[in-house]
Parts: sequence; C-alpha cells; structure tokens
Amino acid sequence: MSKILVLPGDGIGKEIVAQALKVIDSLNANNNLGMNLVHGLIGGSAYDETGSPLPQETLKVAKECDSILLGAVGGHQWEALDRPLRPERGLLGLRAEMDLFSNLRPAILYPQLAAASSLKEEIVSGLDLMIVRELVGGIYFGEPRGIEVKDGQRFGINSATYFESEIARIGHSAFQIAQKRDKRVCSVDKANVLEVCELWREVMEEVSKDYPDVELSHIYVDNAAMQLVKAPKQFDVMVTSNLFGDVLSDCAAMLTGSIGMLPSASLNKDNFGMYEPIHGSAPDIAGKDIANPLATILSVAMMLRYSLNQTDLADKIEAAVNTVLDQGYRTGDIAADGDTAIGTEEMGDRVVAALK
Ligand code: IPM
Ligand code: MG
Repeated sequence: MSKILVLPGDGIGKEIVAQALKVIDSLNANNNLGMNLVHGLIGGSAYDETGSPLPQETLKVAKECDSILLGAVGGHQWEALDRPLRPERGLLGLRAEMDLFSNLRPAILYPQLAAASSLKEEIVSGLDLMIVRELVGGIYFGEPRGIEVKDGQRFGINSATYFESEIARIGHSAFQIAQKRDKRVCSVDKANVLEVCELWREVMEEVSKDYPDVELSHIYVDNAAMQLVKAPKQFDVMVTSNLFGDVLSDCAAMLTGSIGMLPSASLNKDNFGMYEPIHGSAPDIAGKDIANPLATILSVAMMLRYSLNQTDLADKIEAAVNTVLDQGYRTGDIAADGDTAIGTEEMGDRVVAALK
C-alpha cells in the first residue's frame, strides 16, 4: 500500500487537487490502486494556520510517504510577507529538503487540442517534448542573495551557482530519459556570457560519454526560446538549469494549448517524487469552478509511472483524459470558439466516468 501526502496549497490548488482525488478514489475502489492518502499544509494556507509556509509537520510526514501530490502555492495576500514566510518559499523549501533535483516537464500536444494552441497546427501537431529542469540549485538557491544598501542606494543580488556534481546528476537524468525516447538531448545554457554555464556545457559533454547511443547538442537559451515557438518539434529532451527551465517550460506549455494541461514530476535520486501541475495558484480564478484540473490528474498518472511502478494504471488515467477530450469536453482555457466550456468539478467527474 503506497502512502501519499496530499498538499492542495492555495488558490485553485484545492479545487484541482479535489478532482485528482476523485480519480484516486475511483482507482482505489475499482482497480486495486491501494493508495493511502494523508493531507497536509503548504504555502500561504499553511502560513495562515501555522505561521510557516512549510510546517515541520508537513516535512516530517513527507519523509514517511512514498510520494507527494501538490496543487499550487501563492496569492496576493501573502506577497508583502517577509521573504522566508512567503508561500513560494514553502514549495522551494520542500523541493530542497527532499532533494528533488530532477524536474520532468513533458509538453505533449493532445491532437484534440491542436486548435487551442497559439501556434499553427502544422507547427505543433505531434509535439512530444520533455524538459528536464534542475530544481534545487542555480540562481534560485545560490548565495549570496538579498537586497542591501550599497553606495547609498538599494542593491539587489542573486548568485547563479552550480557544483559540477549538481550538473552531472541532472545530466544523467536527462540522458537516461532520452534513452527511452528519441535519444536526443539538447542542453540549454548561456555559455557565451556566463561562467557557470561554461561549466554546465563542459560537464554535459563529460556525462554524454556514458551514453554513446544518445546525441547531445547545445543551444543558447535565447535561441532556445526562439526555436521553441518557431519549430518546437525539433526537440526531444531539453536539459537546463533551474531558472531557464522555469521560463522555457511555461513557453513549451503554451504550445500545447494551455498551461492547464501540463503535469510534472520532481524526483530525487531514489525516485521519491513530488507531482504537481506546472501552473500556479491562479488566485484570480480560484473558487469559480473554471480551472482546468487535467494537469493535476495527469500528475497522478506521472506518479504511478515514475515513483509507484503502476504503469498500467498510469496508462488508464491518460486514456481516460483522452476519451474525455475526444468526447469534446473542455474547460474554458482549452475551449475553442463555439465549444461550451464545462467546470472544474464536471471535468473531474467526466474523467472518473471515462475510467470505468
Ligand atoms: C514553477 C513555479 C515555481 C518556480 C514558483 C511557484 C516558485 O513557477 O514550478 O515553475 O518558479 O519554480
Ligand atoms: Mg514556473
């Protein structure tokens, strides 16, 4: 029996996670999933209840679990808090504490949604790209950091830092994933300007020697952004640092029609994982029953595939999502002109119905 920590978080987090839980309940009842759920607090709602965006209790329970399912964190009401108390710090703290260095962000275009993409259909049809983002290092965590006063004016500082071992381990993740796909890794950096990226490129070359069956190429991040919107199908696996991966994965998400479709996995060296949609807490639409729960539901499928070794049930969830899209059901974000949009709850119910 696997034990899963459920952390809905803030904003739309609660609504979308509730739909994923319906899917888990159904698989527990009808397909012997055997998932035991414990619930915890993170982000702004954790701060409101406990004074911390990452309560000790959440960390303790996380360490006893097999995986984490997370909704989203953040909201305007917490933006003025001291930096260490902000919701995002809860999420970043959890990633760091569990050493979830390998963040997999697949961007797959469902053929039914080709019309929802902001790009022409021929450019995106068949898109199947995997962004592998380093998640616990780089400028997100580098020291020194802060806002000081220097020479009589305010001075902001962050540091982009990587040890070679941190680059090597994310490199190995990317090459191993590429071995199961089209065997091509494109490493994204800014080695023409940044020393930390020069090292990144060198280490990627070294790691690639262990994977003679995989082709390695390098691209500068500005060009990568351009190529993603120009000819995204040229990529198989993209591997990159924390900040570049944050930006490029939102960009890749839009190619698939909506950021509301993309799940993610964040893994440590033992394949313990945290699974979450890549979108944020969308406070502007929270509580309105219009958010797309599919990214969260698909995150459960990733959990079954990458951490729990239940590939058949992962396939089943993905097939159910496909069925619902085939049936023409769309939340507002993926609806084309003329489609009637359904709500968050109904989308969850439709997926559950398609599972049976
Ligand atoms: C993401 C999010 C987070 C990040 C935020 C919420 C801290 O944008 O998972 O991409 O920047 O990593
Ligand atoms: Mg992001």
